[in-house]
Amino acid sequence: MTMLTNLKEYLEHLQLEQLFKKLDASDPETLAKTVEHFTVKEGEKRDQIVENYFGQNGICRIVDTVTECLLEHPRLPSEGKVLDVGAGSGFFTVRVARKVRAEIPNVSFYAMDLTPAMLLSLAKKKADIVPFVGLAENIRGSIEQARKHFIVPFKFDAVFSTLMLHHSTRPERFFESIKETLEKHGKAVVVDLCEHSFEEFRTEMGDVHLGFKPENIHAMARRHFADVKVEKLPGICCESSGRSTEIFIAIMKNFL
Ligand SMILES: C[S@@+](CC[C@H](N)C(=O)[O-])C[C@H]1O[C@@H](n2cnc3c(N)ncnc32)[C@H](O)[C@@H]1O
Repeated sequence: MTMLTNLKEYLEHLQLEQLFKKLDASDPETLAKTVEHFTVKEGEKRDQIVENYFGQNGICRIVDTVTECLLEHPRLPSEGKVLDVGAGSGFFTVRVARKVRAEIPNVSFYAMDLTPAMLLSLAKKKADIVPFVGLAENIRGSIEQARKHFIVPFKFDAVFSTLMLHHSTRPERFFESIKETLEKHGKAVVVDLCEHSFEEFRTEMGDVHLGFKPENIHAMARRHFADVKVEKLPGICCESSGRSTEIFIAIMKNFL
């Protein structure tokens, strides 16, 4: 059975409200709105949306920066496991996986997301990435549920996430959730929007947070990791209809 057929079958029987309950989701109403937004407004269109946001240069910078973090010390094992949280249509997952596998061919990639339509779009890319539905704030519980249908490990050598955090109902919990699923030598990379004032993004783009101050991200991550670096990515912005938002990257290693 192909990954896509397997995913379609799993999604046919999936009850999202029940999954939210099992995962102890704190705000199921907001989660349902997020799923609706990404199903109706993005889904198949997500890749084009990302291209419009960043252009080719910006995309390459994000892909290269995330890949460099994954490849730098501590190096991924030859059979390493990497998880993308809030992977969406897999725009970045596929590109990062391709670059990492050019260096370490047997690394396995997994993609978790809240929105089934986004994962279907990812699976259609046939990029040898295992998709499953789950909550960023409870990755471990999500894996427990997904393991009834897919072969997903409990622990990863690296976790990354691009542009998911500003949709999270509990961003501080996300950092704890990452730590729970990382191997002892593991590392994590989070890319998201810096704080901005475009209130209309809440309705237009389903955003829950108007970005974050890098120092607040640092403080959230430092509760769980000894080694945290958060910086703005210079020279790259997320552009939407003349509105421009800076991007930060957070890199986390070594548990407390
Ligand atoms: C802006 S998109 C980013 C997708 C992809 N990472 C990218 O960079 O193109 C945000 C994604 O996060 C997912 N998402 C939002 N909240 C989530 C949560 N709490 N847990 C898991 N995924 C979530 C959405 O379904 C959506 O696919």
